[in-house]
This record gives sequence, C-alpha cells and structure tokens, in this order.
Amino acid sequence: MRAAVITNPGGAAEEAFAVQEVPDPVVGPEDVLVAVKASALNRADLLQRRGRYNGPPGTRNDIAGLEAAGIVEAIGERVTAWKPGDRVMALLGGMGYASKVAVHERMAMPVPPNLSFEEAASIPEVFLTAYDAIFMQCDLKMGESVLIHAVGSGVGTAAVQMAAAQSCRIFGTAGSQEKLDAATDLGLDIGINYNEQDFAEVITEETGGQGVDVILDVIGGPYWHQNLKSIAVKGRMIIVGSLGGATVPDMTTSALSQKRATVRGTLLRGRPLEEKATLIQAFNNRVVPLFADETIRPIIDRVFPLDQAGAAHAYMETNANFGKIVLKIDD
Ligand SMILES: NC(=O)c1ccc[n+]([C@@H]2O[C@H](COP(=O)([O-])OP(=O)(O)OC[C@H]3O[C@@H](n4cnc5c(N)ncnc54)[C@H](OP(=O)(O)O)[C@@H]3O)[C@@H](O)[C@H]2O)c1
Repeated sequence: MRAAVITNPGGAAEEAFAVQEVPDPVVGPEDVLVAVKASALNRADLLQRRGRYNGPPGTRNDIAGLEAAGIVEAIGERVTAWKPGDRVMALLGGMGYASKVAVHERMAMPVPPNLSFEEAASIPEVFLTAYDAIFMQCDLKMGESVLIHAVGSGVGTAAVQMAAAQSCRIFGTAGSQEKLDAATDLGLDIGINYNEQDFAEVITEETGGQGVDVILDVIGGPYWHQNLKSIAVKGRMIIVGSLGGATVPDMTTSALSQKRATVRGTLLRGRPLEEKATLIQAFNNRVVPLFADETIRPIIDRVFPLDQAGAAHAYMETNANFGKIVLKIDD
C-alpha cells in the first residue's frame, strides 16, 4: 500500500513526509481491511510527526492518522457486521495516512449515503470526542448552557452542532470574527473573540451571574481561572486538550469547592477497545442519523492530496482552519 511516512520528524512540516510503498496491514480475524479514500488531520498528528505522541501497540509511529473513510475490501474470518463493498468510516489508533487500513470491525460505522468519503473521514475523531465529552461525560441536557472553546476547531465545530441539535444555549470562543460568524451559522448563540473580550466577563453578564452548565475546554492551563469564574454551581467542565499549555499559574481549588463543580479530563486514543466500541455504538445510534437527515454536517476547511501531508500539517499549524483538514487518497 501507499502511505505518507514520517521520514524527517525533526524538520519543518513540509519536509517531514514522503509517500512510500509499505507492506499492507495484517488483517486480524475481527478486522476489516478498508481501501481508504480519505483520512483527516487531528492535532495529535502534529505531535506524532515530531515524535512526541506514539501510537498504540500494533501501529507504526511513522504513519499518523486517527480516522479514515473508504470501502471494505476484505474481512477477517470472524467479522459479522461488514462485507466487501460496504462504505465505512472508522476510528483508528493510527496509520490513517495510507491507501489501506485494517481496523477492528467495531471501530467502523456506516457512511450515510448523502456523504462523500472526504466528509465521512472528517467525522470519527472529532465528533466522537465532542459527543463523548459533552453528552456522555458531562451529561449536557436539552436546554442547558455550554461554553465551547476553540469553537472553530474540528472538535469545536462538531460540539456546536450537536449542542445546537439539543437546543442548548451555546457560548463559544475563537481568535477571529470570521470563525465566530461561521460558527454562528452552525448554531453558536454568543461568540466571544478572545483577543478582544474576557470570556468570563461576557458569560457573567449574559447569564446574569449564573454561569454555564458545561464547559468543553481544549486550551487548558491559561483558561483555568476564567473557566471557574464562568461555570455554574454544580457545573461540569471537561479538559479535552491543552493547546495553551498544561500549567495553571497560581492555581487554587477554592473556586471549585464554592461552585461544587466537577472537572474531568479525557483522552480517546488510549482507551481499551471495549470502551471505544461502546461509544461508537451509542454515537452510531444517536448521532449518525443526524448526518443522514442533514441536521448536522461534517465541516471541511480544505482537502489536500496524500503527497501534500506536510503542507496540510503546516496549514494546521497556522491555526487558520475552520473545521477539518482532509487528506484525499487517490486510487
Ligand atoms: N482528548 C482527546 O481524545 C482529543 C481528541 C481530539 C482532539 N483533542 C484535542 O482537541 C483540541 C482541538 O483539536 P482539533 O483537531 O479540533 O484542533 P484544530 O482543528 O487544529 O483547531 C485548533 C484551534 O484552536 C485554537 N487555538 C490554538 N491554540 C490556541 C491557544 N493557545 N489559545 C486559544 N486558542 C488556540 C485555534 O483557533 P483560533 O483561531 O480560535 O485561535 C486553532 O485553529 C486539541 O487540543 C486536540 O489535541 C483531544
């Protein structure tokens, strides 16, 4: 198979990859072999490219890619859910930047007929992460309020749509008015440009001092104090990433106690198969139909061919994208 292999991890993104012929993946008895039509970038891929985020056992550290969409080419002897020719999108432990992947059958979901492979490849990692974080872990309920940081990110554009489908009141932060306007089209109610406004002040004013029920945070340390100012009594906050850094200056716990708030962290990639399979099943039942009826949609910013994986990484590093950056795998 062909794959974008990380051959120069220490260099600039544009020089980090080379498309090479590599051995086909080994198909286990419960695996499906997928002829990949598209994969997509995630922030973790940037770390993996630099050699700072290795994949789970059984994956190559020099081939990134946490999701893919394509056509089932072959199935292992114990596979019951799929047959050759099925259109699938899958959550991967790695190695999505390739023309073939082998993945456990329970990591795959059907591609809704109205979606292209590029659109489908944009779904698994960020929609599963956002769904799991705000609904499964933070128990966001219909009509509650939620603050979504980096609302223009892959995770943010997924979260805002799913929260809007539950008629939540949605606050979101981003670094530009363009991203906030685009997120408003997806259901964002109150956009806050973090370069111009203090989000905690806006939320205090907009909620009459009550704060928000749920916070989805991908910024981490620098937002700790403002997040605790913004959270409601008995609010729930989940830390999904630490784009701004993982250290909290002058951290105190008193605000947490006073608010009786819950803070949790999460990670998708390192979970056991059974946990991921349970999540995928719930998502497939409750959320995938919303793509089919166009209540929500995958948000693609740009599509790059596989041999421009480096350029795609360089683009993500500029923070310019709204939604997903996709890699198209040509036949
Ligand atoms: N825990 C998990 O399992 C899991 C799974 C998937 C993703 N994640 C995490 O979720 C986060 C988002 O991932 P993604 O792939 O959706 O990202 P993405 O599409 O690359 O978007 C990231 C955006 O975050 C904003 N940003 C970056 N650095 C910032 C900073 N220091 N302060 C404020 N805003 C900043 C930028 O938008 P602006 O223009 O608004 O600044 C940037 O475009 C990452 O931290 C990623 O590691 C975690």
